[in-house]
Amino acid sequence: MKVGTPEKFIVKGKRLDGRAPDEIRPIKIEAGVLKRADGSARVEWGGNIAVAACYGPREVHPRHMAKPDKAVLRINYNMAPFSVSDRKRPGTDRRSMEISKVTSEALEPVVFTHLYPNTAIDVFVEILNAAAGTRCTGITAASVAIADAGIPMKDLVPACAAGKVGGEIVVDLCDIEDNFGEADLPMAIIPRTGDISLLQMDGNFTPSEFKKAFEMAKTGCEQVYKVQMDALRNKYGKME
Ligand code: CDP
Repeated sequence: MKVGTPEKFIVKGKRLDGRAPDEIRPIKIEAGVLKRADGSARVEWGGNIAVAACYGPREVHPRHMAKPDKAVLRINYNMAPFSVSDRKRPGTDRRSMEISKVTSEALEPVVFTHLYPNTAIDVFVEILNAAAGTRCTGITAASVAIADAGIPMKDLVPACAAGKVGGEIVVDLCDIEDNFGEADLPMAIIPRTGDISLLQMDGNFTPSEFKKAFEMAKTGCEQVYKVQMDALRNKYGKME
């Protein structure tokens, strides 16, 4: 057991931050927050703050990355040095490369990339404050930013994690649960088709625990999806 592990993660049915096991943290999404970007979004989720900026379709540099039959969807996930409790060294590292890659793979199935051959769609995801679950926050923000850029999409992609803490399955882990918990299962879904476009796992679940966590994360994603839709309705629903 790691030093600093809480004695109990759940007391009288409430988690350390007062939530029920199946309750996600408060989430707010705003579309179109950056004037210079073609599309953008800000997501505040628990203690996480992410801003996503989408540019494109535009010319591909370096040119050899261009694909003759579709646009390349490039995600650049970056954590600000001040976003975490210990200063994060600025710049790309293995973790940010991994998260950029899985984010791109989570979003690619919904974007009509074949409409824009030989171009790039670039999405920059900046994490301004991190409190566990930044990849899910980033995917959620990036998908609203792409929609805000007016790029045709089959659906939005919401993301949410579930995990295991003190032997219990809970949704949307907070900082301390993520640090000291036994397992974490971030997931992204394509609600219209029911497809899963991100599924990662850290730690161990029994098969029945996995099933429960999977269902909880899926329900969490569906809740996030509603907030994503509302963000777009708030911006575009008012345009007559
Ligand atoms: O953020 P996410 O849960 O998607 O990814 P993670 O690699 O499992 O990181 C979990 C959490 O650890 C982050 O959300 C941050 O709060 C924290 N973290 C940190 O404090 N310093 C880092 N260099 C990386 C992550």
